[in-house]
Amino acid sequence: MDRIRSYAPGAGRLPARASLPSDAPRISLDGEWAFRLHPAVPATDEVPDPSTGEGWGAIAVPGMWQLQGHGSPAYTNVRFPFPVEPPVVPDANPTGDYVRTVTVPEEWVGQEAVLRFEGADAHLTVWVNGELLGWSTGSRLAAEFAVGHLLVAGENVVVARVSQWAASSYLEDQDMWWMSGLFRSVSLQLRPAGGIDDVFVHADYDETTGGGRLLVEAAPLARISVEELGLADVPAGTAVEIASVEPWSAEVPRLYEVVVATDSETVTLRVGFRSVRIDGDVLKVNGRPVLLRGVNRHEWHPDTGRAVDADTMLRDVLLMKTHNINAVRTSHYPPHPDFVRLCDEYGLYVVLENDLETHGFEPNGWRQNPSDDLRWRDAYLDRMTRTLERDKNSPSVILWSLGNESGHGRNLAAMAEWIHRRDPSRPVHYEGDWDSGYVDVYSRMYATHAEVDAIGRHEEPLTVDPALDAHRRSIPFVQCEYAHAMGNGPGGLTEYQQLFEAYDRCCGGFVWEWIDHGIRQRTPDGTEFFAYGGDFGEPLHDSNFVADGLVLPDRTPSPGLLEFKKVVEPVRTAIDAGTRQVVVTNLHEVRTTAYLSFGWSTSEGGEATGAGTLDVPEVGPGESVTVALPPLPAATADAEVTVSAVLAADEPWAPAGHEVSWGQAEYASRPPVDVLAFATPARVDGDSYAVGPARFDRGTGRLRSLGGVEVLDAPALVVWRAPTDNDMGYHGPNQLAVEWRALGLDRMVRRLELVEEQSAGLRLRERYAPAAADVALLVTQSWSGTGDALRLRVDVEPEGGWPVVLPRLGLRFSLPAAVSDVSWSGLGPGESYPDSVRAARLGRWSSSVDGLQTPYVMPQENGHRSGVRWAELTGGGTAGLRVEGSPEFGLTVRRWTSEQLTAARHTPDLVPGDRVWVELDLAQSGLGSASCGPGVLPAYQLPAQPRSLTLRFSTV
Ligand code: GAL
Repeated sequence: MDRIRSYAPGAGRLPARASLPSDAPRISLDGEWAFRLHPAVPATDEVPDPSTGEGWGAIAVPGMWQLQGHGSPAYTNVRFPFPVEPPVVPDANPTGDYVRTVTVPEEWVGQEAVLRFEGADAHLTVWVNGELLGWSTGSRLAAEFAVGHLLVAGENVVVARVSQWAASSYLEDQDMWWMSGLFRSVSLQLRPAGGIDDVFVHADYDETTGGGRLLVEAAPLARISVEELGLADVPAGTAVEIASVEPWSAEVPRLYEVVVATDSETVTLRVGFRSVRIDGDVLKVNGRPVLLRGVNRHEWHPDTGRAVDADTMLRDVLLMKTHNINAVRTSHYPPHPDFVRLCDEYGLYVVLENDLETHGFEPNGWRQNPSDDLRWRDAYLDRMTRTLERDKNSPSVILWSLGNESGHGRNLAAMAEWIHRRDPSRPVHYEGDWDSGYVDVYSRMYATHAEVDAIGRHEEPLTVDPALDAHRRSIPFVQCEYAHAMGNGPGGLTEYQQLFEAYDRCCGGFVWEWIDHGIRQRTPDGTEFFAYGGDFGEPLHDSNFVADGLVLPDRTPSPGLLEFKKVVEPVRTAIDAGTRQVVVTNLHEVRTTAYLSFGWSTSEGGEATGAGTLDVPEVGPGESVTVALPPLPAATADAEVTVSAVLAADEPWAPAGHEVSWGQAEYASRPPVDVLAFATPARVDGDSYAVGPARFDRGTGRLRSLGGVEVLDAPALVVWRAPTDNDMGYHGPNQLAVEWRALGLDRMVRRLELVEEQSAGLRLRERYAPAAADVALLVTQSWSGTGDALRLRVDVEPEGGWPVVLPRLGLRFSLPAAVSDVSWSGLGPGESYPDSVRAARLGRWSSSVDGLQTPYVMPQENGHRSGVRWAELTGGGTAGLRVEGSPEFGLTVRRWTSEQLTAARHTPDLVPGDRVWVELDLAQSGLGSASCGPGVLPAYQLPAQPRSLTLRFSTV
């Protein structure tokens, strides 16, 4: 079939135009269609007809057929899942025939009408009433066909044939599931004679005067009205100067209703006045430098794939707004048009990206890359045109992006040139060409902190083509992807944010990525889990690399999202505990702090001791004020004060009281555990030693019980953590987990050197080392007790030249499975690690054991609570255990071991056993972002070096 292999993007389609809310009659064709799947493209163009032949069933539109029982999803990141021989694709080309009827009213007959597909993945051929209308490619782009001449009153038959593969697949190699079908809406729209086919609104804002300029391009006879601005019946194409308008920004998304009317059609748009300019090396919106606190968003729903419903789109927007996100890059294709409208309405800056990626050519040295092959030029321009034309009226769109990871070449340059002509009001973005010859911002992905620092100082390496260096060095810098949010992580967000804030040239960036693309599945016993690459038997796949988002597949915020919210908070409250002063800094671009109300609260020993409001004068954008805290409740020890900024009134995206930002400081610190009380000797008691309330095995020195608490596995050194995706370091500078395994940190062997009775208790000397290695960790456990409490001082001493940093350094023991609840004082409530700890705050927290776990799609280290001062483990109606740290420890409690967590591939693999495992860490390594990006920054690495911790155990 020639059109499947065609370099051309389509045939028989109408020119691209804006997505327009119009009063022209429209019939939705969403719903049930007859459907049949062929294993290959049928050899003839016979019009599919469900009344003849076998194999027809029903399918929902919008939808993806692999998620509706036809074929199965497949995931690859970079590699094409078929031999690379453009423009040819495999014979095995699943092809779906969609058929439905539509009842057309009498009055439509004889008028113009269009059949509009918002998205068909990948190759679409369309017939109406037996006549071939044409075909189209560009899966995430709208396609329209003129159909009026074929419509009859009453029933009409619409047929769409969609093939999974086509030449266009070489342009659609985005890192996501390969899935197919009519995944966005289909509609039939009447096009009245003398109607409004297209509208291009130019609504500029002049920050020097506060005025606006409105120019609406539309059908010549169209008239423009903006009631709020007193504009009525202005002829289309007339520029109107408005003395004063309120500008649109992500912070204050002010929209005006613009009505464009002819005698036969009225289009109503929500328009924002704003300017986007590059001023030297600074990206400015409405004349102010903008700092993008962004995320990359793929369209995803765990049950329906890239067919995303209206509620889900709104949920994404609200989740972003409530987590202090102000920007979205629509990676790597235009989203559903309603998503862009939501960004206009709620306020998110959008980098709108073309539906383009040819990354699969890179593994072959970019040979045959379409980006520099002029046979593909029309296809490139067609894609860019359809991207821009559809969403050109959205104020939220501040940059057009040519696509993603498509190498470089003349077709990319041609697209950029076309945009510069068609819409000079928005700069052009593209990351794949670091020389940045044809774009207006310098974009990189996963640049390290050090590189960003150099770029901020204009000291980055020279461009490949020296002629382009001056241009590249003079333009703003954006990290279009950074902080790879795969599994547990990312670490190091704070340090990126500090750099973005330090340099005017850095306009922020977009975390990779918003959501894990897990597919909801169930085990035979009905337990839900999320599938990833390889789970559908794909011969070639990239496993869980598809699950790298800030929200889990069901949109539960991950700890990484909570961290991001804190790191990018638009208002900072820095408390000086000594002077009792608070510096409030407003990092907004236009908003003052008037929309926030500030409050303080105190606690001592984890118990709330006071709260009140804090009077903070209105702080302008970019400004700071210092205010004094009121006299705080007297406290002797372990007391902190928290200042919180919450919404003073409801916002469209969150109710009054929603917390936007907070700061905390300790104002009375904690004394160390009293060690002197513990100087009592160990007693021999049968085959045990008795130390205070505890019993130890005389032969092995292992702790067996503590008061009424049975200790099933005695405290032993643990260095292993179930590797995180970042520890695996697939696309990072190092693969720590590989080094850890090579050395044997997952199989450390204990040798008891000594059990020694002492006047002050019992001393154990142990040596932990893996087979074949000559490095070790020497551990001394010094136990002492009083009547009701037990003290442990643990000293760890490395031996030999340790070649790697450690994952963690802790003590692990186990308790009976009846332990079900944990409460603690320290950082919480969520998990945290040294380089991802900003979202955790001091307080007193409690959780079930199960509630401490984060169900990352691929099981891995999780659930660690930092800076724990004391913890109580209770449940089952028997005595519980209390542990106090001096100074503090890391706490992990789970129903499985790190080894079981390591072996698990999906969440249902984690099966509770007969005990609860408790890990008390002296230290933990940071997380880094090495699944795709930099590793753990040096400050958060954990070298093998002497460390000590004192713990006090008692029963509760
Ligand atoms: C980038 C790419 C993204 C995604 C990411 C890794 O190279 O642009 O689409 O693949 O890496 O998750």
